[in-house]
Amino acid sequence: MLFAIINSMRYIGNKTQLLGEIEAVINENCKDVHTFCDIFSGTASVAKYFKSKYEIISNDILYLSYVIQRGTIQNDSVPSFDKLTKHLGMSPYQYFDIIENTDHGFKKEQMFFLNNYSELAGRTYLTSSNAELIDLIRLSVEKWFNEKLLTEDEYFYLLGSIVESIPFFSNISGTYGAFLKTWDPRALKRFTLIKPEVITNGKNNKCFNLNYPDLLDLVSGDVLYVDPPYNERQYLPNYHLLETAAKYDYPNIKGVTGIREYKEQKSDFCIKSKALSALELLVSKANFKYILFSYNTDGLMPEDEIKNVFQKYSKNGECKVYRIPYKRFKSRTLINTSDLYELIFFIEKK
Ligand SMILES: C[S@@+](CC[C@H](N)C(=O)[O-])C[C@H]1O[C@@H](n2cnc3c(N)ncnc32)[C@H](O)[C@@H]1O
Repeated sequence: MLFAIINSMRYIGNKTQLLGEIEAVINENCKDVHTFCDIFSGTASVAKYFKSKYEIISNDILYLSYVIQRGTIQNDSVPSFDKLTKHLGMSPYQYFDIIENTDHGFKKEQMFFLNNYSELAGRTYLTSSNAELIDLIRLSVEKWFNEKLLTEDEYFYLLGSIVESIPFFSNISGTYGAFLKTWDPRALKRFTLIKPEVITNGKNNKCFNLNYPDLLDLVSGDVLYVDPPYNERQYLPNYHLLETAAKYDYPNIKGVTGIREYKEQKSDFCIKSKALSALELLVSKANFKYILFSYNTDGLMPEDEIKNVFQKYSKNGECKVYRIPYKRFKSRTLINTSDLYELIFFIEKK
């Protein structure tokens, strides 16, 4: 399993380490770029990076990704929280530092994380005290939004902040496909929120939570960056707990891991027999001048078959393929593996 873990959220396929290479492909091949679409946005690391240059459209089928995007891409600055700060007599972040000692009014029965994803619940994803803090913070944010003490921009900034923070306190080895039985020191620290950075670009950036064909019915532009899953591992089962933190919808959960239902969020890119037609649907529908497609040599679709799809829709019949040695993290040390490559396919569309 491969993660980028430095300065960004741990997420399978996070492209933080590939930003320079993606930028180099754009600089070498694309002219007059104004809009950039990150259609499988995940942690929004790519959208965040290119926001300093272009108007951004971002999208993902997971709501946990949408709240991160909505908080940092569609928002063009960190919101002020004026009304709430006046109401609380302090900023929400100051309040979250002392929330357990306030008269918050929430009952244990309301606390989904404490009752399902904590030591108390027998699922040691979180300590009971951190699970309760996450519940108190998430419940407060929902209550403030319903009471109109938060604008929509402020609400999504805080939700993104919660989702991005939880992994730093989770007792897992990388994903929420399992919890550890003994405590990782990171999980024992008191839960606090990170404040995500927001790049200001003064443009009309837009975020979506759609299956990709539905997004392509709505948007058009210059560069379409495509970074789908590359193996059978569906994203929702690996990040179900973060999806529930984003939605806080008291889902039915099952099994040892406490996973939520996800039939509406399954990706065709994770199914070998469907991945190529999913790719062709994407390329054929895309109303974009240029397409960059990230994949790797370990993926479900063979390189030559991907190339065939792109050549069919390329203006000059060509598809460039850039090969970048894979950077793998092990015990927080960066090492190169000789047999694995990140691939970036590029075409100018017909
Ligand atoms: C490789 S990850 C993207 C990582 C991202 N570039 C980053 O740096 O964090 C693939 C993403 O595609 C999303 N996805 C998979 N199938 C999708 C679909 N049919 N429509 C929209 N998003 C989808 C997954 O939820 C996942 O977040």
